Amino acid sequence: MIGRSEEYEKMFRLEGQLWWYRHLHERVADALLRQFGKKRDMSILDAGCGTGGLLLFLRQMGYTRLRGIDGSTDAVACCHDRELPVSFVNLNDLADFEPTVTYDVIVCNDVFCYFLDADLLPLIAALANRLKPGGILISNNNAFRAFRGEHDLAVGIVRRFVLSDFERLLPPCGLKRQSSTYWSFVLSLPIVLVRQWQQLQLKLGWHTPAEAMSDVYLPSPWLNKMLLGIVRAEQKLLTRTPFGSSLFMVCGK
Ligand SMILES: C[S@@+](CC[C@H](N)C(=O)[O-])C[C@H]1O[C@@H](n2cnc3c(N)ncnc32)[C@H](O)[C@@H]1O
Repeated sequence: MIGRSEEYEKMFRLEGQLWWYRHLHERVADALLRQFGKKRDMSILDAGCGTGGLLLFLRQMGYTRLRGIDGSTDAVACCHDRELPVSFVNLNDLADFEPTVTYDVIVCNDVFCYFLDADLLPLIAALANRLKPGGILISNNNAFRAFRGEHDLAVGIVRRFVLSDFERLLPPCGLKRQSSTYWSFVLSLPIVLVRQWQQLQLKLGWHTPAEAMSDVYLPSPWLNKMLLGIVRAEQKLLTRTPFGSSLFMVCGK
């Protein structure tokens, strides 16, 4: 993804409106509420914060001690446009970034998909190392290979995860999963059908990888509203679901 300026431009423009980002941000806020109640002054690091949509949302919700890092100059420039306290940091070098600072919360959403195990284990260990006692790591990740589609190609995703991957990756880094769920379960079938169709088109050569488009575009307002309503209802009614294109986790030490 790093270097694909047009993807950052789309994210910057749409993350405040698009149902998927909006709901992911709500899930993070819900996890913060569950862990810390009404407290708003715990220190929060968004690692791989992209164009800053989550930090902006949390700032609007009254959270006061926010920090972000990202390894893309495009992303950092967008965050600075929003006057967010974000620094350019390659997550492979996280240990060198303000080494004495620790956080109550670290969020790392849709970043692990750019790391193979050899780099991911040191990254998760470095994130765990930056958590204060009682702190939490919140992480959303692309799930299940069945959902691999044009979006993955367009934004350079190298892997998708299932829960057992984290059961293997978290303990050596000193982390325990506190809660997790796949989402959206309800929308799985249409999403998987679209993605499988995309895979078939690529296999048959009807589309080329160079033409692949990301999912970051705004559908019509009624569809955007309806999809947001569906994922919100799912979160309320089904606290833990067994399948979906994302895996949302909260982990502690
Ligand atoms: C799919 S975006 C997710 C952005 C944001 N977390 C969100 O949920 O919208 C992945 C982000 O990870 C960042 N990233 C990928 N590899 C990185 C690395 N090695 N160091 C720092 N950031 C990295 C990219 O620049 C991008 O902003």
